[in-house]
Amino acid sequence: MDRDQDPELALAAHREQLERSGQAHLLRFWDELDQAERAELLGDLNGCYFPEIMSFFNRAVSAPVPIQQQMDEQMEPVPREVQGSVSRDWERLPEWKAEGLLQISKNKVAVLLLAGGQGTRLGVTYPKGMYNVGLLSRKTLFQIQAERILKLQHLASEQFGHKCTIPWYIMTSSRTMESTKEFFNLNGYFGLQEENVIFFQQGMLPAMTFDGKAILEGKSKISLAPDGNGGLYRALRNQKIVEDVEKRGIGFIHVYCVDNILVKVADPTFIGFCVKQQADCGAKVVEKTNPTEAVGVVCKVNGLYQVVEYSEITLVTAQKRNPDGRLTFNAGNICNHFFTLQFLKNIVKDYEPKLQHHVAWKKIPYVDENGQQIKPDSPNGIKLEKFVFDIFQFSKKFVVFEVLREDEFSPLKNADSQNGKDTPTTARHALMSLHHRWVLNAGGHFVDENGTRIPAIPSLQELADVPIKCEISPVVSYSGEDLDKYVAGREFRPPLIIDENGVQELTANGL
Ligand code: UTP
Repeated sequence: MDRDQDPELALAAHREQLERSGQAHLLRFWDELDQAERAELLGDLNGCYFPEIMSFFNRAVSAPVPIQQQMDEQMEPVPREVQGSVSRDWERLPEWKAEGLLQISKNKVAVLLLAGGQGTRLGVTYPKGMYNVGLLSRKTLFQIQAERILKLQHLASEQFGHKCTIPWYIMTSSRTMESTKEFFNLNGYFGLQEENVIFFQQGMLPAMTFDGKAILEGKSKISLAPDGNGGLYRALRNQKIVEDVEKRGIGFIHVYCVDNILVKVADPTFIGFCVKQQADCGAKVVEKTNPTEAVGVVCKVNGLYQVVEYSEITLVTAQKRNPDGRLTFNAGNICNHFFTLQFLKNIVKDYEPKLQHHVAWKKIPYVDENGQQIKPDSPNGIKLEKFVFDIFQFSKKFVVFEVLREDEFSPLKNADSQNGKDTPTTARHALMSLHHRWVLNAGGHFVDENGTRIPAIPSLQELADVPIKCEISPVVSYSGEDLDKYVAGREFRPPLIIDENGVQELTANGL
């Protein structure tokens, strides 16, 4: 019997390494485990190379903690000359959009979705991209994004007279890979071609106690979590994704998070702006207006670009304002980035090993010495994570593109039961409110049940409670274009859907 079949042989191979790395406690319950449990534990151990994990741990915990006053002194806002803005540079938007569409038409653009997170706050057992926030169409986040890609391919093909493809790279984790793939399969890849949707898997790391012991969450289960969205770069290398990108002739990659319902996947204006600026790395941001909002800001620290978290600076610095009234540090990071292929190649080849993990204190469920499962009330350990923006510091030409929050950013983080920010309700309302504005801009109007026109600017109360129920399929319009023929001069009684079947007033049709 070889090592793969005989658990005792497999165990012997791990035991020595575990002892050397101070992790022998992971085998504490081995003698009590049945065959299936032993296989489960061995599976977890096979994914953990402890000499390396301990070096990550030691580097991360010994890193100096930033001191707020020092950070304040070293920070500078993003200079205007590397910024583009949809509001302040509106005259240049058509030029940038045209450039982006041209690149898309030449098959030079790919998108890369970060979907390896655990969605702990949302609290569902399946990948967040499969979540349906309760839109009229019942579409999931994955479907909305897929349809935006389809529409953009169509727009670029139509404009330049030949077919083009935007490959979609999707990063999952070992926990989300199978269900994500199955979901795409079941849904026929939402109309995209299967060979242009490429799944790959990020790494996992064990949660550790403060003194560097990996935590057992069950007698046969190590507490493992994905290594942060910055695990992207290691995954790109290990799974030879950069090679695939290069083979397809791609030059520019748009990277974004799964949970932003408004995300403009492969946004041609953002891509065109970055290309025209000859940037190797770009960040899309929204204006931070409230100094105490817990959002990281893009800025320069000691001359290098990075994202500084609200907790890393003093309130005085967070509150600083420019003469025009805007916050001095106002470039709110929304995890939406542009990279050239060459930049990613440099990262993967030279810089990835230099990236350091960040330490997040967490409450980590564990089994105690007696095998009892415990849910701690206060943080009892740490998770090690890298962030996707950790590589800004290596950029040779970094740019920032500011967009409007109400048009482009509404993330899904928390469950509705938490009644707070960034819930399915806020995401649904943000999308409907955007689509309502698109209809108005294209010359349509909404009327109430008595046929009275609903004011274009609703009262604050209406806005907060129920936005007008209106949804426009991405296959009809990517960002508000092409709607005149459906809505100009017409009145609609909500709920309204405009999709591949045309205009549907749901109440009128009895749907
Ligand atoms: P968040 O940090 O909001 O994490 O991820 P999350 O997993 O969605 O939710 P919580 O914190 O567990 O509640 C921001 C983006 O980064 C991705 C997520 O899938 C999301 O698109 N991500 C996060 C990864 O791809 N890998 C990770 O290890 C962590």
